[in-house]
Amino acid sequence: MDWGMKNRLAQLIQPDGHCFFMPIDHGYFQGPTRNLEKPGETVAPLLPYCDALFVTRGVLRASIDPANAKPIILRVSGGTSMVGKDLAHEAITTSIQEVLRLNAAAVGVSIFLGSDYEHDSLLNLARMVNECEEYGIPVMAVTAVGKELEKREARYLALCCRIAAELGARVVKTYWCEEFDKVVNGCPVPVVMAGGPKCETELEVFRFVYDGMQRGAIGINLGRNVWQNPHPVAMARALRAIVHENATADAAFDLFHTLTRGE
Ligand code: 5RP
Repeated sequence: MDWGMKNRLAQLIQPDGHCFFMPIDHGYFQGPTRNLEKPGETVAPLLPYCDALFVTRGVLRASIDPANAKPIILRVSGGTSMVGKDLAHEAITTSIQEVLRLNAAAVGVSIFLGSDYEHDSLLNLARMVNECEEYGIPVMAVTAVGKELEKREARYLALCCRIAAELGARVVKTYWCEEFDKVVNGCPVPVVMAGGPKCETELEVFRFVYDGMQRGAIGINLGRNVWQNPHPVAMARALRAIVHENATADAAFDLFHTLTRGE
């Protein structure tokens, strides 16, 4: 592996081998998602507790201070919306020149297995791997399910993650599921967990993150369950304790309560 690729991966994955990515890319198909209407304001207090930001070029330019940023994972697939025909019908939206100009540490591309656009999305991933590897830029594959949240189970996610790795993704982002070790064990590159729609309770979030870490995930790329919580900074700090300090779900919950007491 060349120095540039190693350096970019080291910016994202910390010396303990773990990572906490903060996604604020949801607007690329959801528009002004709740609590992300002003992404710069939402993310500013969370920056000290995350290792990288997952963001589109538009929000990056408009809302993130280049002098005070975290490493950037640039979302480069899109072209769909919540009200359009099919969320899976994505293309590559961002050129390699733009990726370089914005000094991205990595790029993120969604794949939609089992959809009508499976082939197109896999070729989007392969194309970005071809272009980015040339410049030492890691590609993170995103195993997307669109509106079909029930697809989040081990057999399907293991298939998605393995195929993403086979096509050259350096990291794969997928959903946590029961028997998550089956997903991780079939994937030869590091796996990070997304959060999905906001959970009912904080403990639920801490439990699945802890379980996923115990079963081999290297970290999280978790957005709505942080910044849609009434106490986003406490959520970020408690999740960081699980990811980087080996805290249990109960210990993270205690920390969350300590931080929010009196607020
Ligand atoms: C949205 C994404 C998000 O990065 C991903 O889903 C993680 O965010 P959340 O924890 O809110 O699900 O790819 O398109």
